[in-house]
This record gives sequence, C-alpha cells and structure tokens, in this order.
Amino acid sequence: MNSNIANKVVVVTGASSGLGESAARHLSSRGAKVVLAARRKDRIDALAGDLGGERMALAVETDVTDRGQVQRLVDVAVETFGRVDVMLNNAGLMQQSPLEKLKVGEWDNMIDVNIKGVLYGIAAVLPQMQRQKSGHIINVSSVAGHKVTPAGVVYCATKHAVRAISEGLRSEVKPYNLRTTIISPGAVDTELPSHITDPESAGAIQGYYQSVAIRPDSFARAVAFAIEQPEDVDINEILFRPTQQEL
Ligand SMILES: NC(=O)c1ccc[n+]([C@@H]2O[C@H](COP(=O)([O-])OP(=O)(O)OC[C@H]3O[C@@H](n4cnc5c(N)ncnc54)[C@H](OP(=O)(O)O)[C@@H]3O)[C@@H](O)[C@H]2O)c1
Repeated sequence: MNSNIANKVVVVTGASSGLGESAARHLSSRGAKVVLAARRKDRIDALAGDLGGERMALAVETDVTDRGQVQRLVDVAVETFGRVDVMLNNAGLMQQSPLEKLKVGEWDNMIDVNIKGVLYGIAAVLPQMQRQKSGHIINVSSVAGHKVTPAGVVYCATKHAVRAISEGLRSEVKPYNLRTTIISPGAVDTELPSHITDPESAGAIQGYYQSVAIRPDSFARAVAFAIEQPEDVDINEILFRPTQQEL
C-alpha cells in the first residue's frame, strides 16, 4: 500500500460508471477514503458498500450542474472525514453531432456538465484546500482537449476549456501548496458513447470504440500515478491513448 494514497480523502465526481468508478475502486484498494458523487444514487450506494461502507466510502447524490449540490458534496466529505486531499473532477458528457444539426440543447448540456461542473468542483474545494495548505485537484480532459474533430466540435471545445481552466488554476495556487493535474484519456470502454443521439455520429463512435477502446483501469492507474508522487512533485498533465488509436 502506497503511503501517499493511503488515508487520503478523495472526492470523485462521475463515480457511478466508467472511469470514475474504476478510479474509486483502485484508489480504495490502495487505502484511500473515497467520496462518490453522481446522480444515480443506487449505483454509488452499491459501490460504497463494495468498498467497505461508511468508514472508507461515502455516496453523495450530486448533480454537478448545480453549484449548491457540489458545495454540499465537499461539505459532507469534510464533515465526515475532516478534510479533502484530492478532488477528481471527472463527471462528463459526450454528445457528438455536426454543428449544422443544431442540437443546441446538447451543446448546453455538455457546457453545463463538462465546463461548469468542473468549475463548481473547483469552487467547492478551493477554500478548503487553501485552509489546509495542501490538496490536489485533478480535472479530466481528453484527447478531444488536444484535437478538434468534425461532429465533436462542442465536446472538444469543452475539453479544451478544461485544459485552459486547469492550467490557469495551476499557476494561481502555488501560494497554497496545491497540486493540479489534467488527465486526457483516449478511447476507453465506458458508457460515454451511449449518450450520443445523432445516429451517424453514434454509429461511427461506437464502431471506433469497439475496435480500439481500452479498459478503464488504464485511467485509474494514471490517477494513482499523479497522486502517489511525493508532495513536492506536481504531475501537471497526462495524455494517454490505446496503443491502437491513431487520432
Ligand atoms: N471514455 C472515454 O473514452 C473518455 C475519453 C476521454 C475523456 N473521457 C472523460 O472521462 C470522464 C468520465 O467519462 P466516462 O468515460 O467514465 O463515461 P461514463 O461511463 O458515461 O461516465 C460519466 C459519469 O459522469 C456522471 N455524470 C454525467 N452527468 C452528470 C451530472 N450532471 N452530475 C453528476 N454526474 C454526472 C455520470 O453519472 P450519473 O449519470 O449517475 O450522474 C457518470 O458517472 C468524462 O469527463 C469524459 O469526458 C472519457
């Protein structure tokens, strides 16, 4: 068990499936106390049970598009475990479609979850970490935060925004001894493509994922790598892809 993960209090948004669930399981297996956030309460309750219940894992129903709920999530984590060492802003939504389809409601959803959700996570945890004079904020971007693809324009824009926000955050939090990490995965096998409503985009992405996507534990290990470094080492960015992924 690595001492720089064991006993850390880690808040994970989007813990009900995919990357967030995998990271929560992995960090818990390394001795972290995990606070699980998502809207699907039944899923995070079951996961908290799997991870040892109240002493080691807590499920807090949270919609990251609601600032008050995200603040409550962090407040409950502090009330229960006394501190927050890591905030993993992972919750996200991908709804690909060409701009000309004018799926403006889906643009709004992605902006609300992927950008505002991350900002609300930062807003909720930053004062606590400033008081602690320690902490680590990990924001999940994507290969889509490095490239812009047809039919992925708004998703890519949100993931570029996550990188811009994270780099700005990194440069501002030095006086408080905080670490910041951007993790940008390539195609990983999760529920992410299942939210695409445009049939052509859904078919293309699902086919692509079936041919190249790797397992979510790839992400979990990247998160653990960033956290387990000595406190004076700040891993600012990790970009990883399936070996088979060209894009
Ligand atoms: N899988 C990939 O290939 C890949 C690649 C690059 C980046 N990413 C990023 O990785 C992150 C995790 O995605 P995933 O691949 O694990 O997909 P996923 O299986 O669909 O998981 C998405 C998670 O986000 C949560 N979520 C969505 N909207 C939410 C909201 N309004 N409030 C709270 N939670 C919300 C979902 O929980 P509820 O529905 O229960 O609320 C779920 O736990 C996302 O930011 C995604 O953009 C994924």
